[in-house]
Amino acid sequence: MTSHPVAAIVLAAGMGTRMRSALPKVMHPIAGKPMLGHVLAAAEQAGVGRRIVVVGPDMPSVAKLAAPAPAVQQTDRLGTAHAVSMAREELADFRQGTVLVLFGDTPLIRAETLAAMVAAREAGATIVVLGFEAADPTGYGRLIREASGRLARIVEHKDASEGERTVTLCNAGVMAFDAARLWDIVARIGNANAKGEYYLTDAVDLAVSDGAQCAIVTASEEEVMGVNTRLELSKAETIWQRRRRERAMLEGATLTDPASVFFAADTVLGQDVSIGPNVVFGPGVTIEDDVEIRAFCHIEGALVRSGAQIGPFARLRPGTDIAGGVRIGNFVEVKNAHFGPGAKANHLAYIGDADVGAGANIGAGVITCNYDGYLKHRTEIGADAFIGSNSALVAPVTVGAGAIVAAGSAIGGEIPADALALTRAERIVKPGKAKTMRALKVAEKAARKAAKE
Ligand code: UD1
Ligand code: MG
Repeated sequence: MTSHPVAAIVLAAGMGTRMRSALPKVMHPIAGKPMLGHVLAAAEQAGVGRRIVVVGPDMPSVAKLAAPAPAVQQTDRLGTAHAVSMAREELADFRQGTVLVLFGDTPLIRAETLAAMVAAREAGATIVVLGFEAADPTGYGRLIREASGRLARIVEHKDASEGERTVTLCNAGVMAFDAARLWDIVARIGNANAKGEYYLTDAVDLAVSDGAQCAIVTASEEEVMGVNTRLELSKAETIWQRRRRERAMLEGATLTDPASVFFAADTVLGQDVSIGPNVVFGPGVTIEDDVEIRAFCHIEGALVRSGAQIGPFARLRPGTDIAGGVRIGNFVEVKNAHFGPGAKANHLAYIGDADVGAGANIGAGVITCNYDGYLKHRTEIGADAFIGSNSALVAPVTVGAGAIVAAGSAIGGEIPADALALTRAERIVKPGKAKTMRALKVAEKAARKAAKE
């Protein structure tokens, strides 16, 4: 067998008390996706075939997110080496290849970095440690090297000497192990240290004294930042969004004001997409090529096909499918609705639970009354139909192809193709009546004023 299998153990047993939350720390989202989800995705992208998540007691939501990857429980938090040992049984048959150890609260880790660590491991290192240059190394484990530059051991901040504390190359926490050696090394780690914890970092010293070689791969401090508070969560979100905007632009989208555009973790963008200022993408959005999204749009759960134009000030909600050439204009809300090619809703409309045929025109102020207080009903609008302004389409309603609904109608049921449908009060015009009314009112006002004086 020539393949190089990779497994990952993701540590997520900490509740994260500093988050001050009922939600386990790793479930807090970045770009709408739990932090743990980002770590698992990076691992998968780096070619990790097996993932095991170490959870704390009473964390069913974390185990559910990890699935189908197994979750193993660490009841007492006795340190990172103890946490890793919880996965031993799950990986009993995994004897050849690389085992990565990741932290669930380090959501910005990139697949490229993990792949580089796996490559360094496969090139002959028993352990590969991810290092970074810390602006302030306080609290981190320091990477202690021999004169040759080779990694000798990791010393935790609390156990470090004055001299060792001046080292700024720190341990990010991510480590890659030779699967054949991992469990033997972990079993030998003790807890005779400042914290009384089983430090996974002690693995390096043990491997080196066995005569094995350990290597360092480096990443930026930003990439390996851990999240412990909501303030750090917001900083991680900012970094994630900046990276995503950069990727969007490098992949062929134009962002007029990148800093004001917010993406979700799963947003898909085509080429020559143009996005104006203040646009927010919720989960589940695909924007195909040549789409223009003007300023101030909120889009989630929507597919916008090639050549459509959205906004300014439009809201697309889940279940929206917009065909090419469609125009959705200002203050238009679309939910669970399909717009056929070239259809238009340019101003002030609510289109929900509807099918709008190709080339149909939805006038200003049109509302699909999809909810009767108990049930939702559908609206079907045929190709090239014209719905006049301020009409209420009381679902269930079917407007045939080419039919016209006159402005201001409140209408339901079936309207045949090419019919004109209207519900409108009778028109009454009384010549000269306005003038007489005006004279009457002027006299009335003057009389009141006189009575007061
Ligand atoms: C760890 C490293 C340190 C490194 C730093 C980077 C060790 C001994 N030290 O220190 O070298 O510079 O991360 O941030 O590994 N966890 C469990 N169960 C446990 C203990 C920890 O699941 O029993 C999880 C935590 O939830 C966390 C991660 O492992 O996600 C790291 O634990 P933490 O206590 O933050 O380690 P540090 O002291 O920061
Ligand atoms: Mg930490």
